[in-house]
Amino acid sequence: MKTFDGLMERMEDLPSLPSTVMTILDVLNNPESSANELSEALRHDQSLASRVLRLVNSAYYGFPRKIDTLQKAVTILGYSSIQNIILVTKIFEVVRSGSKEHSLNPKRFWRHSLGCGVTAQIIGTKLGLRKGEEVFLAGLLHDIGKVIFDAFLHEEYSKVIEMSREKNILLYEAEEQILGATHADLGYWLAEEWSLPLNITAAIAHHHGPAQAGDQMLIASLVHIGDILVRALEIGYGGDDFIQPLSRKSWGTLHLTPKFFEDIIPEIETRLEKAKAFIPENS
Ligand SMILES: [Fe+2]
Ligand SMILES: [Fe+2]
Repeated sequence: MKTFDGLMERMEDLPSLPSTVMTILDVLNNPESSANELSEALRHDQSLASRVLRLVNSAYYGFPRKIDTLQKAVTILGYSSIQNIILVTKIFEVVRSGSKEHSLNPKRFWRHSLGCGVTAQIIGTKLGLRKGEEVFLAGLLHDIGKVIFDAFLHEEYSKVIEMSREKNILLYEAEEQILGATHADLGYWLAEEWSLPLNITAAIAHHHGPAQAGDQMLIASLVHIGDILVRALEIGYGGDDFIQPLSRKSWGTLHLTPKFFEDIIPEIETRLEKAKAFIPENS
């Protein structure tokens, strides 16, 4: 992976995750802590607490009864789900704090990301993989480097998009040429900074080349294939018009067939609708 010294200096406005989140993550990572302590830590960030409850009660989880306290949410969903919801919520806040001008259309970009998340999750579930939620979040965040570039290095990134259109090349090829690093490199760096789970971090880093993901190849492959499939189905827009080459190794390892894809298309639409709450309205 690259060193980002020059690049990070140019992104001087990029905020780190706030200390309240770090406190909450400490509580979550402490095996001795209780649901009570977590609610206490979250009490200091009311907007985060209400957003967590909103997501827990969304169609994505589909619980039959309303979950009205954080204690209940932790008991039902478990610590790692709550931790992931908190991280995603805060990452959206970081993105929103950047440039108000966009070279990537936010609505279409997040639809691409959401589509990748649900598709990767559906394929994973059909193959009998647990950890479906982490697969979903890895897909949702796979291109996070693009929006961070767009929000905190806006002018340079608009040149990247221009170059990819003019030269008919993939966005990550133009990023490499203009910025010296791709959105996958930046995404990896950020995921480590933000202490995302290891499998999500690896999937973000290797979604263009899952064969390099070592023992996280499975999740990286799911995101890789989800990314390609939503592009082929024209769900949302990832910022360029090209479909990256499919990793033969991923295709072979997962034993996928064209029929398998045909069968899951209706489910992708249904799940996309249910997962919408993950994208805040003002994103
Ligand atoms: Fe990508
Ligand atoms: Fe993508």
